[in-house]
Amino acid sequence: MKKKVVVLTGAGISAESGISTFRDSDGLWEQYRVEDVATYDAYLRNPELVLNFYNERRRQLFQVKPNEGHRQLVRLEEKYDVRIITQNIDNLHEQAGSTHVLHLHGLLTQARSDRDDNLIVDIGDRDIHIGDKAPDGAQLRPHIVWFGEAVPNIEPAAELCEKADYFIVVGTSMNVYPAAGLIHYVPRSTPCYLVDPKAVPISRPITIFQEKAGTGVKKVVDELLNQPSE
Ligand code: APR
Repeated sequence: MKKKVVVLTGAGISAESGISTFRDSDGLWEQYRVEDVATYDAYLRNPELVLNFYNERRRQLFQVKPNEGHRQLVRLEEKYDVRIITQNIDNLHEQAGSTHVLHLHGLLTQARSDRDDNLIVDIGDRDIHIGDKAPDGAQLRPHIVWFGEAVPNIEPAAELCEKADYFIVVGTSMNVYPAAGLIHYVPRSTPCYLVDPKAVPISRPITIFQEKAGTGVKKVVDELLNQPSE
């Protein structure tokens, strides 16, 4: 039975692929106001603006590729049962070859009925416009968790964290809950690692690689691959 490595990733792991983060100096929330583009009220108030915000991000996703940080996490699968929990709505972990990816905040390549949260359709790189309908005839909306909306995958994510033999945090400012609270489900005895060029406040012992994902993730992966097999 392979040991379980649980990885919590945020926008920082996709930064070197060319996707901007949210709270860095050039971050997305420096260019847009959350309340204008990333809440259900915003969508009701100005659906065209919100749909186009995500259409732009979906188009960008199809211009970029996974980076070394994503690829190193795939390497871990040689020896471990790797479970990625990502806050990202890009599919770069999947493109790199990670086999278990749990999206907390949704996925740009999916849309859903704005009447039935469980009626989800794959849209790939297609835009969503007003008048685009789900199979139930309702308007299609991005399958994204907006601020204030429920995070249905938080329970399975917490269960994964409870069973982690190793826990790695890559590229998240740990600002947004409930995602940031997942670290509290990780057993105290589980070795934890952090890869981020900035100092991120983490309230437990953790081995820090204060550098970009493109170089830092390899160092953590090398360390874990060199662990003696039981
Ligand atoms: N490699 C690793 N980490 C990086 C890199 C890099 N090349 N560049 C930046 N970072 C780090 C930053 O230092 C920061 O700690 O990535 C983190 C990005 O933090 P945020 O911009 O807050 O992104 P994230 O934590 O993913 O935001 C969480 O907030 O807006 C919502 O739903 C959105 O999923 C998002 C959530």
